[in-house]
Amino acid sequence: MSIQVLGTGAYVPERIVTNDELSTMVDTSDEWIRQRVGVAERRVSVSENAAEMGAKAAQKALEAAGITADQLDLIVGATVSSDFGCPSMSAKVQELIGAGCPAFDVNSACSGFLFALDTAAAFVARGGIRYALVLGAERLSRILDWTDRSTCVIFGDGAGAAVIAPGENYLASHLYTQGGESVLSIPLGKGNSPFYEKDVAPLAVHMSGQETFKFAVKQIVGEIRLIAERAGITTEQIDYIVPHQANIRIIDLAARRLNVPMEKFVVNIERYGNTSSASVPISFDELVRSGRLKRGDLIALCAFGGGLSSGACLIRW
Ligand code: ACO
Repeated sequence: MSIQVLGTGAYVPERIVTNDELSTMVDTSDEWIRQRVGVAERRVSVSENAAEMGAKAAQKALEAAGITADQLDLIVGATVSSDFGCPSMSAKVQELIGAGCPAFDVNSACSGFLFALDTAAAFVARGGIRYALVLGAERLSRILDWTDRSTCVIFGDGAGAAVIAPGENYLASHLYTQGGESVLSIPLGKGNSPFYEKDVAPLAVHMSGQETFKFAVKQIVGEIRLIAERAGITTEQIDYIVPHQANIRIIDLAARRLNVPMEKFVVNIERYGNTSSASVPISFDELVRSGRLKRGDLIALCAFGGGLSSGACLIRW
């Protein structure tokens, strides 16, 4: 048994931080950020944590699906920036929306939504689940080093969600992990333990930008080709690609290597920056609500990020 997507939802906090505002905080410029990354502005949460944003996205997805929270049998969420190690972000969402089902998080950084969706799809395939909620929610602003211009200009906060049910529209999926922290990591610090023998980096996103860039382009191209092959279609037959919004140049290069026109890619990095695991579901929700989708359209979701990790899936609308 496969799944179908019944409804999607997204939420971003109100506070807009423009490149010009960032230029007053670190040595950067609107021109550099637009050209090198493709971001014009991002949303930053001043009061809501990841779960609170996730719950708002979840409510919209439930409304779109036409069901209520008490009908959910499972919640699988993804985050790297929850305010709490415990309860999980998903457990908190369960409380906030008034659901009564099991809820847990997966951690696969920016690929998190793809890992969460595939996990939920496996639960559905096992049987006994009528409705499941899958979400990605991030308050990345709390884990950024706001004095580091090479990372703080890239990211933003937000949440996206989807309600799934048994169906036949999840045509192919693939997940990939290349474990290690040398390219991308988010150390959590060591608290005040007097027993640590080694120094531990403080809480922040540490990223080797160019290594991540190369990995990202290779993975988008490889993942899209792989899911197309698994579904028995050509990449030309894919109607829309919803990529992780990390850098417009990554999307542009991947589009050229795949020989797929940019019009088929959903792009909103200019408005939100990189929202990690929330990036794909926010973009997916924009596509769904744009009115562009026709029944039967083929949509590829694709992400890459810390882990290192990547993932993709093909959905028939
Ligand atoms: N403003 C101005 N100059 C800057 C800035 C900035 N914000 N940031 C870096 N620079 C400078 C550098 O200091 C460097 O100067 P130098 O030549 O004098 O040394 C110059 O710009 C070029 O720096 P690079 O790091 O080589 O810049 P690059 O073109 O590679 O762009 C970027 C950096 C945007 C990070 C890019 O490499 C990238 O997007 N990488 C991928 C990021 C990504 O995909 N992340 C997703 C995963 S995140 C996750 O999973 C949590």
